[in-house]
Amino acid sequence: MTEKVDFDQYTDNYNELLREGTKFFSSNEEYFARYKIELVRKYAHQPVGRILEYGCGIGRNISYLKTAFPGAEVIGTDISEAGLALAAKENPGVRFEVERAGLDVGTFDLIFVAGVFHHVAVAERAGVSQVLHDRLNPKGSLFVFEHNPYNPVTRRIVDTCPYDADAVLLRPSELKALLCGTGLKSDRRAYCLFVPPKLSWLMPLENWLQWLPMGGQYWVSAHKA
Ligand SMILES: C[S@@+](CC[C@H](N)C(=O)[O-])C[C@H]1O[C@@H](n2cnc3c(N)ncnc32)[C@H](O)[C@@H]1O
Repeated sequence: MTEKVDFDQYTDNYNELLREGTKFFSSNEEYFARYKIELVRKYAHQPVGRILEYGCGIGRNISYLKTAFPGAEVIGTDISEAGLALAAKENPGVRFEVERAGLDVGTFDLIFVAGVFHHVAVAERAGVSQVLHDRLNPKGSLFVFEHNPYNPVTRRIVDTCPYDADAVLLRPSELKALLCGTGLKSDRRAYCLFVPPKLSWLMPLENWLQWLPMGGQYWVSAHKA
């Protein structure tokens, strides 16, 4: 069995490794955070007063969440204490908590999870899904982004990235089943990240390609049934 990656060891060079793996697509790794939050802003159930980023790492998405949902309280959690320390430094005023059993951070109108499930041991994924269910408000929405296991380029990036050494990719149907297994109802499943930013004039195509299992990633959204 592969040992779980300790993200505390990648706090200093996380962005660098991400940039290295994805530079063929975008020269600026911040693009991926902006792109995902823009999708979430478009599809989230409103109003959004409280936001959780579960598995926020070094906090790359936090400022984009704050900008997309002005006035909302944003909280980030992760199991990596070093990651959270950097996230807190970069995002003054935002609350960060170490993710642990029994952590009580209340409930949320929006929960955002990006690139976390493939690092969670298969046997622990149902438990993580249950936590997300329990923290979601009755009218809230959950968005989970994951690497697309059908895309050979994505698989190659994962295979060569040091902090993906423990990655076990999951298919959209598996992720949906995990979320629905908690009683959540899935809203959408969509492949994304087809068009690199340098071809921005082709971006409208992304809406038409959501069904095509060739995007770099995919996302699933859900709400309480
Ligand atoms: C690839 S990083 C993604 C970080 C962030 N979501 C982003 O988009 O930049 C995966 C993160 O998931 C965290 N993680 C892994 N297992 C977790 C768990 N069971 N609960 C919470 N976070 C976890 C890791 O510590 C790491 O920070």
